[in-house]
Amino acid sequence: MVKMIPINQPVLGDEERKAVLKVLESGLLSDKSGEGAFVKMFEEEFRKYIGVKYAVALNSGTAALHASLMALGIGRGDEVILPSFTFCATAETVLLVGGKPVMVDIDPKTFCIDPNEIRKSITPKTKAIIPVHLFGMPVNVDEISEIAERHCLHVIGDAAQAHGAQYKSKKVGCFFDVECFSFYPTKNITTGEGGMVTTNNEEIFEKIRMIRSHGEEKPYRHVMIGHNYRLPEVSAAIGWVQTRKIDEFLKKRRHNAERLIEILENQEKIEVPEVPENVTHSWHLFTLKAKRKSERNKLTELLNKRGIGTGKYYENPLHTLKFYAERSKIISSLNNTVEAAERVFQVPVHPLVDDIDLIGKEIISGLKSM
Ligand SMILES: Cc1ncc(COP(=O)(O)O)c(C=O)c1O
Repeated sequence: MVKMIPINQPVLGDEERKAVLKVLESGLLSDKSGEGAFVKMFEEEFRKYIGVKYAVALNSGTAALHASLMALGIGRGDEVILPSFTFCATAETVLLVGGKPVMVDIDPKTFCIDPNEIRKSITPKTKAIIPVHLFGMPVNVDEISEIAERHCLHVIGDAAQAHGAQYKSKKVGCFFDVECFSFYPTKNITTGEGGMVTTNNEEIFEKIRMIRSHGEEKPYRHVMIGHNYRLPEVSAAIGWVQTRKIDEFLKKRRHNAERLIEILENQEKIEVPEVPENVTHSWHLFTLKAKRKSERNKLTELLNKRGIGTGKYYENPLHTLKFYAERSKIISSLNNTVEAAERVFQVPVHPLVDDIDLIGKEIISGLKSM
């Protein structure tokens, strides 16, 4: 059997092992307040890395989004504008607070939410926008911030895939009311399961801290509705180490992505990613676009046979799923989303990919056979 290069893979070493052992030896696996020693160290390390005033660690990216919506007071009947071309948690958490996802189209080049589509979808019921920095590509921060300011809307950045991405030399995570990260094992850094909210707003920070642990203000003083969204110490210990290694990981991803663009940029049957000026992509998912769906499907099949893992994110955008379609407002036909869903695919560029030229060669050979 051919050994498969997975589309993403965590990089874990001795430092992570030692940190986990420290937790096990201490016997302190979690703290009732959610603020164990490693959680605090991880939050501080991540906060400094992003360049933001506050960071709260939670036990998933989904928890980070849900707690953020709760802290911002988004509730029943409130409309929240978001892309259909994303992971389900972006819209699922809006439904969890009783809100209505309003699904809009993407920019066909960046695959991120199109600010013009946001403008067209604003109604008196609109309360917030959730732009997703998709695949590691920052959204158009300036335009989205301008829209939000003009219409008094909250912005929750879904940064689940964008650790280390930059817009105008500032890191994703510091732009909006809150931004939410995920540390699932496929992400640029991992804690197993885990999430983080970053914000410059002290009031929102305090609320999210309370929501993380049953709305508790002080021991046994519960002042609002919350959850158990606490991150275990073992996960926080891994996250603390991973945050200190992130630049090393990103350097390898960038090297692989840039080399792959160089190899593939003159291929007629495929479009390579285009990174806008002023933006640093974090290359969570290296995304290529075939000319048509049949070619995309054939090529990914061929690559899988040659041991190269591929992704088709997101071949079923949320507005095409019955469950979400019935519960969301979908204003236009979302043509760019439908086109991307049919034609894009991803190949591995993660730090454990040592021979990126081989991946390039296999793609070219697959294209020639079509
Ligand atoms: C865009 C996006 N939002 C939210 C999430 C949810 O994060 P988690 O899986 O950590 O709950 C993910 C995770 O895959 C994601 O990719």
